[in-house]
Amino acid sequence: MLKESVLFLAQQESIRHLAQHNVVAQRVARRFVAGETLDLAMEATSALNQRRISVSLDHLGENTADEREASVAADDYISILEHIHQRNADANISVKLTALGLDISDTVCRDNLTRVLRRAQEYGFFVRVDMEGSAYTQRTMDMVCELHQTFAQVGTVLQTALLRTPDDVERLLQERIRMRLVKGAYLEAPSIAYARKTDVDNAYLRLLRPLLERGVYPAIATHDERMINAAIRIAQEQAIPRARFEFQMLYGIRRDLQERLSAMGYNVRVYLPYGSQWYPYLTRRMAERPANLMFIVSNTFRG
Ligand code: FDA
Repeated sequence: MLKESVLFLAQQESIRHLAQHNVVAQRVARRFVAGETLDLAMEATSALNQRRISVSLDHLGENTADEREASVAADDYISILEHIHQRNADANISVKLTALGLDISDTVCRDNLTRVLRRAQEYGFFVRVDMEGSAYTQRTMDMVCELHQTFAQVGTVLQTALLRTPDDVERLLQERIRMRLVKGAYLEAPSIAYARKTDVDNAYLRLLRPLLERGVYPAIATHDERMINAAIRIAQEQAIPRARFEFQMLYGIRRDLQERLSAMGYNVRVYLPYGSQWYPYLTRRMAERPANLMFIVSNTFRG
């Protein structure tokens, strides 16, 4: 309930304005966001790589309604690919289709994504298409499946909160498309999504097995040790080698667990966002853990 309220309030324009100008919110954002520039993001990438942790870079931005901005977003991603290539970093990229123009039209978005994928293909890099709110699920699935026929190195994300996800998992398994499994960070209607956290967690546990047994290098993206331990158990039972899947976590969350899994010999990748448009990303992190929000509120009113 609190999660829903945080996500709902965060969408109100007056609150967005207040938060973006709030010094404490900016400070908290720095915990989850590597900085405003690509150079800072590359520094954070190299620090993680030194600790044997891979990275997926996200240039923050979503829901653009401007064709030129969507094209600039694609250019920015191409520039990230060039930086990764030049520095030989252990990293790939995560993109949001609404940043590349999905709200404008499928054509604009497809053209921009194709440009990014073409460059990634030249360098041999993988591109992850993040999953946004359910209004975009079908179009995201369709676009990824379509482009995967030309670009093998594209994959996407499925959210166990959505009731449709088992069917989507099956579709991606059959088409041999890489997927990242998450619980889901968006506000969804009870008619299409589980309302209770236990149901979302149980759905996650159920989907781990098909993902690990039949998936193409699946990404188990969670900070929940119960999910992680279940994945490790299934992999051990089925003798699935560690190199065949990876764990993923968000920048700034459960660093201890990231390091522990990496030290145990598992592949670990950190999702590393950067850029000035941190507000929507930060609100999702607040909703996942309202203690983060209470920190901002109490420090704002303290003095
Ligand atoms: P859960 O919410 O149960 O948290 C488990 C534990 O993790 C908590 O007890 C706490 O210790 C820690 N934790 C979790 N969130 C925290 C936070 N914000 N601050 C501090 N501690 C926190 N979603 C989506 O809809 N589309 C997407 O494309 C992606 N992409 C993505 C990539 C990666 C690499 C990750 C890890 C996650 C996503 N997500 C996402 C977000 C995902 O849907 C989910 O909201 C978060 O991962 C939180 O859920 P957990 O699985 O961690 O479990």
